[in-house]
Order: sequence, then C-alpha cells, then structure tokens
Amino acid sequence: MKEYARLIIGGKELRLPVITGTEGEKAVDIRALRKETGYITYDPGFANTGSCKSKITFMDGEKGILRHRGIPIEQLAEKSSFVETSFLLINGHLPLRKELTRTSIMLNDQSMVHEDMKIFFSNFPRLSHPMGILSAMVNALRSFYPEIIHTEEDFEKVFIRLLSKVRTLAALSFKISRGHKVIYPRADYTYCANFLNMMFDSPVNPYLLDKDVVKALNTFWILHADHEQNCSTSAVKTVGSARANIYASISAGIAALWGPLHGGANQAVIEMLTQIHEKGAGIKEAVEKAKNKRSSFRLMGFGHRVYKTYDPRAKIMKKVCDKVLPKLRINDPLLDIAKALEEVALSDSYFVEKNLYPNVDFYSGILLRAMNIPTNMFPVMFAIGRLPGWIAQWKEHMDDREQKITRPRQIYTGLNQSAYVPMAKREAPAVEVPEE
Ligand code: CMC
Repeated sequence: MKEYARLIIGGKELRLPVITGTEGEKAVDIRALRKETGYITYDPGFANTGSCKSKITFMDGEKGILRHRGIPIEQLAEKSSFVETSFLLINGHLPLRKELTRTSIMLNDQSMVHEDMKIFFSNFPRLSHPMGILSAMVNALRSFYPEIIHTEEDFEKVFIRLLSKVRTLAALSFKISRGHKVIYPRADYTYCANFLNMMFDSPVNPYLLDKDVVKALNTFWILHADHEQNCSTSAVKTVGSARANIYASISAGIAALWGPLHGGANQAVIEMLTQIHEKGAGIKEAVEKAKNKRSSFRLMGFGHRVYKTYDPRAKIMKKVCDKVLPKLRINDPLLDIAKALEEVALSDSYFVEKNLYPNVDFYSGILLRAMNIPTNMFPVMFAIGRLPGWIAQWKEHMDDREQKITRPRQIYTGLNQSAYVPMAKREAPAVEVPEE
C-alpha cells in the first residue's frame, strides 16, 4: 500500500507520497509542495534532501556501511582491482573476463594525450597546485576530443578516455612540475602499474615495480571510487544538468574536490601531522584547538556528513598502512602520531558527543607518502580514484527522466523594494561595504 505523509500548512492539508529505497530508507516526495502551497523547504547544505534516486552506491552512516552496486567495500578492497571496480560502478555489474580484458585493452589504447597538451602544462606558473592544473586540463580535453555522446558506444569511448587520460595527465603534471623528462604509458602495464611507472621511472633510475605498492594503489583508488551524492559528485551533476559536456562537468568536480573540507583533506591531514611532528605542536593542543569555536581550525580527517561512526574506508586504510609500511621497511613517525591523535580525540567528549570519527583522509596520506607521492599530489590521487564514481553518477543523472536542471530556490532576506537614489543624494551606508 502506498504510504503518504500529511502536511498541514497555511490552513491546507497536503498528502505527500513517501518513497522507500531498497534498503528501507524513506523520503518524502515534496515535488508538489510549492505548486500546491506556495511554501518551499529550507535545507542549507542539503543535509536532508535527496537529489535523486540512485542504484550505484549505498551508505548507512549510522552503521558504517558502504556498498557499490550491492557489494561491500571490504570485499572490493580485498578482492577487486581499480579497473574492475570502475567497470562495476559504471556498467552496474562485475565484468566477465572478456569484458575486463576489452576494458584493459581500450584503456591502454587511450592512454596517450595529445602532444600539444604538454605545451599547456609548461605555461602554468611553477607553484601552481596540481588540482588547479588537472581541472583546467580535463576541461581542455573537450577541445581536443570534441565528439558529442549520442550512443552507448560513444559513452564507453568517452569514459575510457577519461579514466585513461586523466591518469596520464596527472603523472605528466608531476614530471613537468619537476622539470623532468616525461615518461609515456606502456601497453604491457596494468592501470596502476602504469601510473606508478609514469610517475617514478626516469632515464637514470629505472623504476622497479613492487607488487605490494601496486596492490596498495589499487586499494587506495577502490576506496575512493564513489561516495554517492558528495560535494564533488553533486558539482559534476549540477554542471551536467545544464547539459554542459562531460569534461566540463568532471572539471567542476575536480575543482570542488580540491577544497580542504573534501578531497583536499588528505593533504591537510599530513600538513597537520607534520606540524605536530616537526614543530612540536602537541597532540592534546591540536585537539583543544579543534574544539575551540573561536578558532577555524578543525581536526582534519575527522568527521563526516553521513558517517556518524568510523568511516569503513578509514578502517581499511589504517589496516593497509599497518600491512604495507613494514613490508616496504618504512617507519613513518606520522603513522604513530595519527594513531595517538585518534586515541586522544576518540576519548574526548567533544568528539564522542558529535560522533566525529576518522574519515578516509585520516590515514590515506600516510599510505601515499609510503609510495613516494608528493603531498600536493594527494588530492589528485583522490580525483583519479573518484573518476569512475563521477562518470557513473553523471551517466545515471543524464539517463534519469525525472531530473531537471539543478536550480534550488532561496528565501530572500534583503531589502524590500526601494527607489534608485541619484549619486548626489546618496548617504554613506550604515555598514561599511567593500569598494568594487
Ligand atoms: N574538528 C572539529 N570539529 C568538527 C569537525 C572536526 N574535524 N568536524 C565537525 N566538527 C564539529 C563542527 O564544528 C560542528 O560543531 P557544532 O555543532 O558545535 O557547530 C559539528 O561538529 C558538526 O559539524 P558540521 O560542520 O555541521 O558537519 P558537516 O556534516 O557539515 O561537515 C565535514 C562534515 C567533513 C565537512 C566536517 O566534519 C569537517 O570539516 N571535517 C574536517 C575536514 C575533513 O576531514 N574532510 C574530509 C571529509 S571525508 C572525505 C571527503 O568526502 O572528501
């Protein structure tokens, strides 16, 4: 039997349909609200707003559950590869062997970028952040590959191109920023091995692939592959909802991810831990500062909009650090500091009462450091990992007949109608306004 919510507002009763998801989560369908009553809803940050129906990712923030196309993240992290997980997210099912082989061949075929793109790179100022460069370069891909997506085959070509070329662009940006010789992708390497080789091989020091590092990178990217309607994914979909091309949409996602409250947090965590390690800023002091409402400082890598318990990705990331660092004979003092910081925070009533636990970014930087990835490349690593999620969510959005251009309403709180005052008669406003 169909369920309804009854809303009595402005002297009128409205029956609003209830939508139930496959895992039992419920939503009130308010689409008729404004038309029927003149009212809108107020929900800054959209914390209570479902923007779509989706079959891609399920999260239960109270229980710490994350599943892609029904498969728990723990199983994917242990058993899958990043390319396989990308296929799963985008196509909706695990690939057959021949499908996975075909995807790998196509990824290799698409791995080169147009040589002219290297000229773009060379003209960014030396200190440019790699995320700014990556966002600009992904937007530029549209000029190099202007075809429009009409069919499923066109879409496949474009998503393979994005997955393959963004990885190459990221490695290129690293090499060019160092003034080093660019290393091209190789057809005999898998996706993750290829990335590591493009990053670290050089004519003087051939890079020796380590299977533990390749596995760790696969896990790192699987853990970042999708997270339903997060800030950057919503940015991708918002831009896409205006029918802007997929490259512009993904470029917007990269820009959103750059922020320190989102994907930039992995860089911010390492900077925070380094501060504690090198400058002697204490662990307790960091926790106290994060609690102080007069300070804008937050404990980076802690807290999440959806998870009100330990982020399941952070649990896996911590285990991977504990396994991989000793294998690589790395003793990173930042790992000990992170664990001590976690212990102090999790026994502090502020963090306990607000349900603030480590999120994916808390331990991820330590793993990236062990792979020799420079700190300012950390958000780029997140971006490569999140690509399949952005692409899958973009596609689902484009195919969803219920979707419209994203265009929230507002509650206007400014001046009521007032007349234009000629310059000679104007008085200084009571409050200082900055000059344009
Ligand atoms: N340190 C100190 N206080 C915090 C923190 C933190 N890391 N996170 C949240 N709070 C407090 C916040 O001040 C607020 O307190 P009050 O209710 O007294 O005003 C309360 O907890 C709720 O926080 P919120 O900002 O309303 O929660 P939100 O859901 O809007 O924000 C968040 C989620 C992730 C932006 C936030 O927890 C945060 O800024 N964390 C640090 C940055 C970070 O690690 N970001 C990575 C997120 S996971 C990966 C990703 O999605 O990119």
